[in-house]
Amino acid sequence: MAQRPVHLVVVTGSVRTGRFGPTVARWFAEQAEACPDVTVEPLDLADVTLPARLPEYDMRDRPPEADAIAERLAAADGYIIITPEYNHSFPASLKHFIDWFMEEWQAKPVGFVSYGGMAGGLRAVEALRLVFAELHAVTVRETVSFHNHRERFGADGRPLEPEGCEQAAKVLLDQLVWWALALREAKERRPYRR
Ligand SMILES: Cc1cc2nc3c(=O)[nH]c(=O)nc-3n(C[C@H](O)[C@H](O)[C@H](O)COP(=O)(O)O)c2cc1C
Repeated sequence: MAQRPVHLVVVTGSVRTGRFGPTVARWFAEQAEACPDVTVEPLDLADVTLPARLPEYDMRDRPPEADAIAERLAAADGYIIITPEYNHSFPASLKHFIDWFMEEWQAKPVGFVSYGGMAGGLRAVEALRLVFAELHAVTVRETVSFHNHRERFGADGRPLEPEGCEQAAKVLLDQLVWWALALREAKERRPYRR
């Protein structure tokens, strides 16, 4: 029997007016869609409305909009987070979103595509690794990173020098898919225990 495709949710983490995030997210989603046996679901945080106040810790009072997102996250085999760097870390919009969910992240791989100034958003990525470790997710070592991102994309929203970043995306996706399948198979044998 053919294997079920690996389902990836690609999260656009910035919600700022005039943000660059969707340009990077669109490019990366295209790279992922070109992978055999991968399905891609974009999730733009600008389209997500979650209350500013988190509910009780056990999430019993989670509102319907959070339940709807939780369902989408639960159906994913892995995640890609598209993140800029804000003040040497990741945007508050992303932290707020991550904190709304718990089990949905656990025992799943998370990959990062970052952008920013000279550091290419990598300080945001390293900060995110700590957060996802706490949530029992597995972060993928390889990243795709765009330093001085505005100079690296053309007016058509595509990288001016696509070769290097396409290769980096392929390496990231290969690793993410490996982890997604490995963890899926492991969980089928033995439920994850925290
Ligand atoms: C509040 C804020 C803080 C920022 N801090 C950094 C930073 O620490 N390092 C960096 O490389 N770029 C920083 N930048 C520049 C962003 O990387 C750049 O504006 C990027 O386009 C932001 O992503 P967005 O357009 O998707 O919101 C900052 C931008 C903002 C709005």
